[in-house]
Amino acid sequence: MRQTLVAGNWKMNGSREGNRHLLDAIKAGMDDGVSAEVVVCPPAIYIPQTARRLDGSGISWGGQDLSQHESGAYTGEISAAMLLDYQCKYVIIGHSERRSLHAETDAQVAEKFLAAQKAGLTPILCVGELLEEREAGETEAVVARQLDAVIAAAGIQAVAGGVIAYEPVWAIGTGKTASPQQAQDVHAFIRQRLAAQDANVAEKVQILYGGSVKPDNAAELFAMTDIDGGLIGGASLDAESFLAICRAV
Ligand code: 13P
Repeated sequence: MRQTLVAGNWKMNGSREGNRHLLDAIKAGMDDGVSAEVVVCPPAIYIPQTARRLDGSGISWGGQDLSQHESGAYTGEISAAMLLDYQCKYVIIGHSERRSLHAETDAQVAEKFLAAQKAGLTPILCVGELLEEREAGETEAVVARQLDAVIAAAGIQAVAGGVIAYEPVWAIGTGKTASPQQAQDVHAFIRQRLAAQDANVAEKVQILYGGSVKPDNAAELFAMTDIDGGLIGGASLDAESFLAICRAV
C-alpha cells in the first residue's frame, strides 16, 4: 500500500509574517486526523524560515525548482546541495509554469530530475497536457513524452525513488478540476507505461493529482485506485483548506 502524500506548492506567494501564521497553523493541525505524509514547498527564500518552524513537526519541506548544475556561474539559480543545506526532502521538477513561463524543455526537466535524485532529494516530477492537447486527443502522447524523457535520462529505477504529479494544465488555478475518472485514467496510463518497463517500479511510485484540488473534491480524487495524493496550489495557502485536504485521505 502506497502512503498518501499531500504536497503544498505555494508558488510565488507568502511573506515572512504570513508564513509564520500559516506554518504554525498547519503544524498545530497535524495531530488532528492527518495520516498522510505532508510536504510544504514555499518560495526558496522562505525555505530557511520553513525549516526553522517545521523542525521536529513530522512535516517535510521542499523546493519548487532547482538547477541541474551543481554550482558555478548560474545567477539566480539554486542547487540541490543548497536545498539539502536546509533539510529539504523534496523538490518539484518540471512544473507546468516552469515549462511554459521559463521555457524548460523535457530534456532540461530530465537533467533536473537526475540532479535532484543524485543529491538525495525526492523529485516530484510534474507532467500534464494543455487544454488544446486534451481536445486533440493527445493527452497520453504528451504525458508519455514528458515521462519518457526522464526515464531515458535517469533510468526506470530512478523513477521508483521519485514521485510523479499529474497536473493537467487546464485544471491549474482555474477551478476546473479533472473529474476523478479523468484523473484516474491518466494515472493508470502512467502506471501502465512504467509497468511495461518494470512492474515493481510501477507499483511503488506515488502518483499525485494536481489542479484545483479543494477540500470538497479531495476525498473523491484520493479514493481512486491510482491516485496516491495531491499537489495543491491555491488551497495550500490557507491552513484550514490545506488541513482539510490532508484529512481527506
Ligand atoms: P492549484 O491547486 O492552484 O490549481 O495549483 C495546482 C498546482 O499547480 C500545484 O503545483
